[in-house]
Amino acid sequence: MSEKTPFYITTPIYYPSAKLHIGHAYCTTVADTIARFKRLAGYDVFFLTGSDEHGQKIQQAAEKEGITPIQYVDRIVASFQELWRLLGISYDDFIRTTQPRHHELVQDIFQRIYDQGDIYKGAYTGLYCTPCESYWTKLQLDENGCCPDCHRPVQEVSEEAYFFRMSKYADRLLAYINEHPDFIQPVSRRNEMIAFIEQGLEDLCVSRTSFDWGIPVPFDPKHVVYVWFDALTNYLTPIGYMHDAEKFNKYWPADVHLVGKEIVRFHTIIWGCMLMALGIDLPKKVYGHGWLVVDGAKMSKSVGNVVDPIALIEEFGADAVRYFLLREITLGQDGNISRDTLIGRINSDLANDLGNLLHRTLSMAKKYRKGVLAKGAGRTDFDAALEEMAAATVADYTAQMEQMELSAAIKTAWALISRTNKYIDETAPWTLAKDEAKTAELDAVLYHLVETLHIVSVLIAPFMPTTARRIHEQLGFTSDFDAVQLADIAAWGTTPDGHTVGTAEQLFPRIEVEKA
Ligand code: MSP
Repeated sequence: MSEKTPFYITTPIYYPSAKLHIGHAYCTTVADTIARFKRLAGYDVFFLTGSDEHGQKIQQAAEKEGITPIQYVDRIVASFQELWRLLGISYDDFIRTTQPRHHELVQDIFQRIYDQGDIYKGAYTGLYCTPCESYWTKLQLDENGCCPDCHRPVQEVSEEAYFFRMSKYADRLLAYINEHPDFIQPVSRRNEMIAFIEQGLEDLCVSRTSFDWGIPVPFDPKHVVYVWFDALTNYLTPIGYMHDAEKFNKYWPADVHLVGKEIVRFHTIIWGCMLMALGIDLPKKVYGHGWLVVDGAKMSKSVGNVVDPIALIEEFGADAVRYFLLREITLGQDGNISRDTLIGRINSDLANDLGNLLHRTLSMAKKYRKGVLAKGAGRTDFDAALEEMAAATVADYTAQMEQMELSAAIKTAWALISRTNKYIDETAPWTLAKDEAKTAELDAVLYHLVETLHIVSVLIAPFMPTTARRIHEQLGFTSDFDAVQLADIAAWGTTPDGHTVGTAEQLFPRIEVEKA
């Protein structure tokens, strides 16, 4: 058997500073959907997420609660893992930057770069934004002299510190970005990064002495490693860098680092230079997705519009939330979430289009054929057209998924669902059932409906894993759904002659909207 092609995808590791909101859930859902698609397409996927647990902000938050930083992060990280479980996130490893495996690797990398002369000791005076753990130059501050990212005040800080010689790698990095158009996507983010590097890169301060919740610099332990240097290294820890050459060579370079647009800079510039210093390849792609806004406004605690993903999942179910996020937001752009549009999508797309198609199909198969399908004669032009559309759908969907066009891909699958509902109206099985001369035609219609839904169940599996499994079961398939592959639907007609369908159960109840 040939070896599967490896595919390594990551999300950012999240700060355990607050509860995760729907924006974080969005990023992880996108990565999960890509990971699931790649598994379906036969890749050997490694999907990593985790938590970014060091830094002054965490230390301060723990102090405020009168507990130790590790007690503080343990509790919050448990809530992340519970959210990912509820949302059906299929990660292969969960990295915590407080784990010994990570601690050790960060120290080894820091030492290596120091030994080769790319980290040196100096003094730092700069403008620091504590919430963003980020230093800024005067030129970079916003019009009020505040942090350009979060717009909160910055503080002037002066300390003895270690510096990473990023300036040395600026030209090489720029050349790399120019020669590798896929490295930073979408293209707008790539242009921003090029402009940023063209201004010139300064050496980066990579240690702190003003707090101690971090990984000590191995040869000077009153310093802790700068949290971004620590955090970015997370992508190397679970794949065995410096420890397990076989695993590392299999998964590195990563295929995709999926990140929010505001941290593309860290993932391309700092990370790019760190990897160059280590002499290893850069990730194949850093994809900067947009932000989720609520009813048009940025989510913030002070505005009080933060959407809690757990409450949403409890009310509507994980698959409905996933479907909404993936379908409604074009990857790379900002997107809006509102209760009304969510309910609208559930009612029209999920309850109506998909739910009804499955329900009508199974009830007609039961009513007219006691659930048993016959594959064979009776094929009409309507059937041929549906087969053709199903084949085109699988091809278009696959191409779109390969391009990370998730919203386009799910719309492609939905066009087949809508077309199949129309096919029922065109072929009118209830009329065929009254005419004995049309027995074979009716058989063909029922077979085509089940086979199309079989295809649909596979296509939607990366987006709505639980729903896809339920459809698979209701259609009467007893094979292991986890083992299903895209190749299984490559050709029309894998549902066998004599197949017996299962029992219809409602997939999505309609949500009644109370009119005020
Ligand atoms: N800890 C760093 C990442 C280190 S990766 C080596 C971090 N953490 S974070 O928790 O603040 O953010 C994690 C991700 O969530 C980021 O990619 C960020 O863009 C994303 N989002 C935060 N708010 C968001 C929205 N409102 N919408 C979409 N994504 C959002 O940054």
